[in-house]
Formats: sequence, structure tokens, C-alpha cells
Amino acid sequence: MSKNILVTGGAGYIGSHTVLQLLLGGYKVIKMVGIVGISLIIDKLLLVQRGNTLIIKQSYWVVRFDAVIHFAGLKAVGESVEKPLLYYDNNVIGTITLLEVMAAHGCKNLVFSSSATVYGWPKEVPCTEESPLSAVNPYGRTKLFIEEICRDVHHSDPEWKIILLRYFNPVGAHPSGHIGEDPRGIPNNLMPFVQQVAVGRRPALTVFGNDYATKDGTGVRDYIHVVDLADGHIAALRKLSDPKIELAFNPTSYAIIGCEVYNLGTGKGTSVLEMVAAFERASGKKIPLVMAGRRAGDAEIVYASTKKAECELDWRARYGIEEMCRDQWNWASKNPYGYGSPESNGVMK
Ligand code: UD1
Repeated sequence: MSKNILVTGGAGYIGSHTVLQLLLGGYKVIKMVGIVGISLIIDKLLLVQRGNTLIIKQSYWVVRFDAVIHFAGLKAVGESVEKPLLYYDNNVIGTITLLEVMAAHGCKNLVFSSSATVYGWPKEVPCTEESPLSAVNPYGRTKLFIEEICRDVHHSDPEWKIILLRYFNPVGAHPSGHIGEDPRGIPNNLMPFVQQVAVGRRPALTVFGNDYATKDGTGVRDYIHVVDLADGHIAALRKLSDPKIELAFNPTSYAIIGCEVYNLGTGKGTSVLEMVAAFERASGKKIPLVMAGRRAGDAEIVYASTKKAECELDWRARYGIEEMCRDQWNWASKNPYGYGSPESNGVMK
């Protein structure tokens, strides 16, 4: 029997790829936003708080959902430093409202988008789910707070089954080339910036720091193909509906889903220069580099331990950086201005 899944932020980068994998997997999906972006959902959720409860409930809860995947949220680190209240409002209050509406409708299965940012500057790599947590900016703190809120909600009512997925660095695009990442304004993240240099929208990539204690001096991250990441959500949904997890007295505690956290990464660290070289090979384009100082708040080396997700979700990333760059270039070369146009310099009308 197919399951109904509500996806918030389903038009975003990771959300849109996950919606596609869900549909291919036979799920029925309701996205809470169109292509206009993630803020609409948050606005609508906030309306619930502001007294339009009935309207929102009627418009979205006419079908019974088996689970919710909650992507919607703001994610620009710099903006979160300038506008912390905006981030706490959208991300934290938005999630609380969603949890309230879910509880009111008896849907207590949730998959939440957390981030490797909760590991801060890791003292040891790979990061395991038990590694110490910290946040160095308001965006990261919203992820930490929401994780804690989810744990409290589960403790207060064990009917809640929640999976917190800590994403490492999602890159690439669907192999079809029809959907991909299309950030507004100047990209904050490495690969969207590289992509815009490759299509001629920006002159050069600024490398933030080449004096780290890494193989070539540049920062090391765990890049993961967005389709692998999307599949991680299907694995999480499978886990939520696994009958074994109903056995609260199951002696193997990992089989019980209460509020559980999983890393989604490849377990491999790649430097900025290695990633640029891989993209140059995939695209045949030269990416001019400008060496600059470190970016405030950047960690030196971050990569995941993937053991827990492999053992308990039966999921592992299939693609390496070559495929990530190939698919990202396929998307970029077909859509050099993303979902926008050259006249709008990529900004969607
Ligand atoms: C960043 C955020 C993190 C967020 C994640 C979302 C910061 C400090 N961290 O992670 O909170 O969860 O994005 O995907 O913003 N780099 C350059 N030049 C650039 C851009 C990046 O050299 O123009 C380097 C960075 O220094 C880093 C690596 O590329 O070493 C990856 O950067 P990025 O893609 O921004 O990801 P994170 O910093 O890991």
C-alpha cells in the first residue's frame, strides 16, 4: 500500500530531489510549496500561530499523512548572524508549529533535515553520531535546538518516531539535468560557486584558506551526491515503518526508533582543490582561482562516519566525486542560469 508523505520545502534543492525519488519509489507526495521557494511554507505555518489554524489545516490535512519530511528552513550562515531572530522564527518556531499541527492530526512520524554543522569544528574525524555537538552561528544553533526539541517531544510522547538526518555537503544534481541547485545571489557554498564560474557568470573562485593542516592546505569536506542524500530519506522512511521498531522491549536497542540521529555522508574527505580539479575534468572548463584568507567559522576537516546509517538504515552512498561533478556539470551546462534567465542573471521571475 502506498504511503502519503508530506514534504515541507519540497521545491528546494534537496527537497526536489527527494520528492522525485519518493515518487519513483511509489510514495504519494504532497509538497507544501511550489517552485517559489521555502519561505511560503514557513509563512503558512506561521499563519497557523496567528489564528488561521482552520484554513491551514483544511488546505493541507485533507489526506492522512503517514509521515512528514521537514526540509523547509533558512540556511545561509552569514545571514543568520545578521538576522538571528529571522532564523529562530523561521526554523525553530516553524518546526514547533509543524510538530503541533502534526500532533493535532495524529501524524507522529517525522524525518528532519539536520546538518553536519552541529559538529562545529570537530576535534576528531570521522564525526560519529556521538561526537560532541556545538554551534558557531545562529543557523547551526537552530539545527541543534530543533534536534533537542525533537528529543523532548519523543520523551513526552513515545508514539512520536523521529529521524534526524545530519547532512554533510550535498552537491551534484539529478542525472536527467532537469533539476539542480540554484541559489539566489552570490552562492555561499563551494560547488554552486564553481558551477557559476564554469558557465561564465563569475570570473574566479575565491579559495578560503590554503594554510590548513590538510593534504594541500585547503579545507576538507565530505561531499555527497544529492541523489544519494535523497535516497537516505527513503531509507529513513522505511525505518520509520519497520514493524520491528514497534517492539519497545526489543533487546537490540538500535531496532527501536524513538528519536534517532544518522549521518548522511560518504565517509570520504575531499579538499577544495581536489573538488575543483574533479569539476575541471568533468566540465573541460578551467576554473581560475584566487587564494584568500580563511572564512570565519570554517572548520579544517569534516567528514562522516557512515557506519550507523549503513547498519541501521541499510543505506550507503553509491556515487563518488566524479559522478557528483559530472551530474552537476550536466545540470549547469543545460541550465547555466538555473531556473532563471540571462536577463534576470539567474533570478527566477
Ligand atoms: C557550509 C556552512 C554550513 C552549512 C553548509 C550547507 C559555513 C561556515 N558553513 O558548510 O553551516 O550547513 O554550508 O551546505 O558557511 N569554499 C571556498 N570558496 C567558496 C566557498 C567555499 O574556498 O567560495 C571552501 C570552504 O572554505 C570549505 C569548503 O569550500 O572549506 C566547503 O564550503 P561550503 O560549500 O560553504 O560548505 P561548508 O563550509 O562545509
